[in-house]
Amino acid sequence: MKDCKLSINGRNYNVQVEDKWTLLYVLREVLGLMGTKEGCGTSDCGACKVLVDGKAMNSCTLLALKMEDKEITTIEGLGNSDKPHPIQEAFVEAGAVQCGFCTPGMVISTKALLDQKSDPTEEEIREGLSKNLCRCTGYVKIIDAVQLAAKKVKELK
Ligand code: FES
Ligand code: FES
Repeated sequence: MKDCKLSINGRNYNVQVEDKWTLLYVLREVLGLMGTKEGCGTSDCGACKVLVDGKAMNSCTLLALKMEDKEITTIEGLGNSDKPHPIQEAFVEAGAVQCGFCTPGMVISTKALLDQKSDPTEEEIREGLSKNLCRCTGYVKIIDAVQLAAKKVKELK
């Protein structure tokens, strides 16, 4: 085991980790941050996305020890059911949440996208979410949700 210092959702953590432990494993199994989901475990589905220095990345293939000195944001850092982030509100209002398994990763990718482009085109949304898979929705409502989220986030500015 090695010491690992992580900054997650604005809070500093000191954890003991094995060399091969992924960020996803540490988030869920060590820190109990269960909002980030494990789907494929091979960087193919996007369910495990978190923001690393503002960039949406698959935490299932990032080694926890390599995440020192980075700022990590998980879905818990964006909002919760008492105080949802506007992107989370938009997903619910647009009916883009069915089983919900892909939703945290979708919301994280949407946050990264809207931080870069406040008013993305449909094509840019499809491209921004192209690494996030959903088994349930057919994606149409997810595109609607991102468009609604863009509107909501702009209104807050
Ligand atoms: S669980 Fe990480 S990409 Fe699927
Ligand atoms: S809502 Fe079920 S996988 Fe996307």
